[in-house]
Amino acid sequence: MIEVDKVSVRFGGVVALAEVSAVFTQPVSGIIGPNGAGKTTLMNVFSGFVSAAAGRVVCDGEDLLRLSPHRRAHWGLRRSFQKEEIANDLTVFDNVLVQTDRGFTGASARRAEVARLIELVGLADRADTFGRDLSGFERRLADVAKCMAGNPRLVMFDEPAGGLSIDETHTLGTLIKRIHAETGAQTLVIDHDVELISEICDETLVLDFGRRIAFGPTAEVLADPAVKAAYLGTEEV
Ligand SMILES: Nc1ncnc2c1ncn2[C@@H]1O[C@H](COP(=O)(O)OP(=O)(O)OP(=O)(O)O)[C@@H](O)[C@H]1O
Ligand SMILES: [Mg+2]
Repeated sequence: MIEVDKVSVRFGGVVALAEVSAVFTQPVSGIIGPNGAGKTTLMNVFSGFVSAAAGRVVCDGEDLLRLSPHRRAHWGLRRSFQKEEIANDLTVFDNVLVQTDRGFTGASARRAEVARLIELVGLADRADTFGRDLSGFERRLADVAKCMAGNPRLVMFDEPAGGLSIDETHTLGTLIKRIHAETGAQTLVIDHDVELISEICDETLVLDFGRRIAFGPTAEVLADPAVKAAYLGTEEV
C-alpha cells in the first residue's frame, strides 16, 4: 500500500503539487493528466529528486521521504525513465546483475535470478549483447528486467510507452502487469496513452494543475466529467 498524504511541491511561484492525497492499493496504478499536471513531479518526490514542501509518502509502513535517495533504492524503490538507463558498455546480463545487490546472497542464486528475469522479458537470446547494440524496444525490455531485480517493492514508470509501436506497447503492458505477481512489488505508471492505462491499471489518479481531480477504479475515473473536461482541447480520453 502506498499512501500519498497531502503532498505539496512549489517551484518558486509555481505550485506543481497542491496537497495531493491518494492511497494506492492495487498491483498496478496509473497517474494521468494533461502536460504540466505534476505527474513527473510526484514521482520525483518519491525518488528524492524533488523535495516536498509538505506531506508524506508512506509505502508498506515506511515513511519514504525520511529516507535518503540511496536508502530508498535499497528499500526497493525502482524507477524507469522515458529515456531508460541501460549502460552501453555492459551486456544485458550485467545491466540487470548490477541491480541485484540485495536480496540474493549467493552469487549463483543472483545469476539464476538475473537469467530468469531476462528470459521473462523476452531477451534470453540477447543476454550477452552489449547495451549499445540493442534496439530501443530491447533497451526498454532490459530496463523492465532491471526494475524487477533485487526485490523491488515499488516500481515507477514515467511514460514507458513513448516511442513504441502499438504491438510493442501491448507487450510492454503485459510485462508491467506481471511485475506484481513475479516480485510482489506495486507498480505506478504515468502515461499519456490512455488505452495502455485502461489496459493495465486497476486504479488511476488524475492530476490537473497540481491538484487531484479524480482517483479510483480506472474505468470510473475515465468516465468522470471533471476528467473529460481537463482533457478537453488537449487530447481524447
Ligand atoms: N525543476 C523544476 N523547476 C521549475 N518548475 C518545474 C520543475 N519541474 C517541473 N516544474 C513545473 O511544475 C509543473 C509540473 O511539471 P511536471 O513535469 O510534473 O508535469 P507532468 O504532469 O509530468 O507533465 P508532462 O505530461 O508534460 O510530462 C509544470 O508547471 C512544470 O513547468
Ligand atoms: Mg512528465
